[in-house]
Amino acid sequence: MSQNQLDTKSEAWSALFSEPMSELVKRYTASVFFDKRLWQADVQGSLAHAEMLAAQGIISADDRASIERGLAQVSAEIEAGSFDWKLDLEDVHLNIEARLTHLVGDAGKRLHTGRSRNDQVATDVRLWLRSEIDLIDGLLADLQKSLVDVAEKNVETILPGFTHLQVAQPVSFAHHLLAYVEMFARDAERLADVRRRTNRLPLGSAALAGTTYPLDRERVARTLGMVDADGHACVCQNSLDGVSDRDFAIEFTAAATLCMVHISRLSEELILWMSQNFGFIRIADRFTTGSSIMPQKKNPDVPELARGKTGRVVGHLMALITLMKGQPLAYNKDNQEDKEPLFDTVDTLKDTLRIFSEMVGGQLNPATGEREGGITVNALAMEQAASRGYATATDLADYLVKKGLPFRDAHETVAHAVKAAVTHSCDLSELPLAVLQGFHPSIEKDVYDVLSLRGSLNARNTLGGTAPAQVLAQIQRHRARLG
Ligand code: ARG
Repeated sequence: MSQNQLDTKSEAWSALFSEPMSELVKRYTASVFFDKRLWQADVQGSLAHAEMLAAQGIISADDRASIERGLAQVSAEIEAGSFDWKLDLEDVHLNIEARLTHLVGDAGKRLHTGRSRNDQVATDVRLWLRSEIDLIDGLLADLQKSLVDVAEKNVETILPGFTHLQVAQPVSFAHHLLAYVEMFARDAERLADVRRRTNRLPLGSAALAGTTYPLDRERVARTLGMVDADGHACVCQNSLDGVSDRDFAIEFTAAATLCMVHISRLSEELILWMSQNFGFIRIADRFTTGSSIMPQKKNPDVPELARGKTGRVVGHLMALITLMKGQPLAYNKDNQEDKEPLFDTVDTLKDTLRIFSEMVGGQLNPATGEREGGITVNALAMEQAASRGYATATDLADYLVKKGLPFRDAHETVAHAVKAAVTHSCDLSELPLAVLQGFHPSIEKDVYDVLSLRGSLNARNTLGGTAPAQVLAQIQRHRARLG
């Protein structure tokens, strides 16, 4: 074995072992084929660590320079795809360190001073997740803007609002879309909160108990941008917790799960709305597929898959939370299992958000500044559906209350009127005035204003209501917020 090389991981801890790992155990314990995606964070963390070691006089300036040069080459090789990832070296950390040592000799071996893979991996996952959270934040903003754009064109479009999937009251289609904007805005808030707890430095916890070297952990935190809003370094304050805490990964996956649940609810609606029985919207052909047997079919594969993938992300949350249950302090190898669920959650969420922004709002045409290719709204079908199902019955009750009836009595009176309309197979607004007056003498000709869908919509003019004036105010608020 060469002095400067570390070609298999047993050489990293060596002399104590009397037999090599079997191939099966090597494969079972290795993580390199999935954790290599942490390489940038690993290099970033190592550079910050080396800088601090040199500043503290723990390694020489020359060693630091060699480490920087070596890590630059390692990065270039990984980027170029020429880096030789070795299963024998178990994980991303040992692979990079071995190559570094091969390139720069003893300086590479000094990089691990005052550090353990336990605090190293915890740092890498946090750095990686922090940048993913920032990307997801942008994608959430895009999706919200896309929904707001479609909403703006549909403030006056009337949709039957449902409770129990029964026609309840007419709502503005824009109002309905903005309900999802609220959900995605909360998702962004939650992620910003998770980011604060992700952005803390475990490095310096070493294996579990801290280290004997005079490290400056706050310096490393600042170098890595692990600072709070006031610029103070954010450092994990207990070494045992620092190496073993995966709360941030669980919290992130919980926030991602909730976001996927919101996507899944939207998917369910898109699927219903585009079915022949509703016919409210069409989605662009590129998000649908045909059937190999039924030539007339266009299936909503994308929203269906998003609904299905929500289950997969829920599963990842269960995996991560169960992973931590029953783990004693401090680091245990169980934690290596945090990566695949976390990575797949991030991948699934990012792809889903990207696709939904485009599927709902279309793509921005830079020439016109307009979006093209989003959902097509069939306003007539929506309005016709709203006019079936006595959606303005509550308005008639409210009308009677304004004439002095207690609400409960008004409710009962309107129930009789609805029954009569059902018997005559007509809408409430189609019952003659004389018939309506038969239910209550205070009913006058102006009742027809409240029995219309548009009258019903306009009347709900309180904060958060569906009246166009309220909806427009919300659109303005979102625009100001989203920029
Ligand atoms: N690949 C490991 C992980 O992902 C790195 C930490 C290993 N530490 C150890 N003591 N075996 O968790």
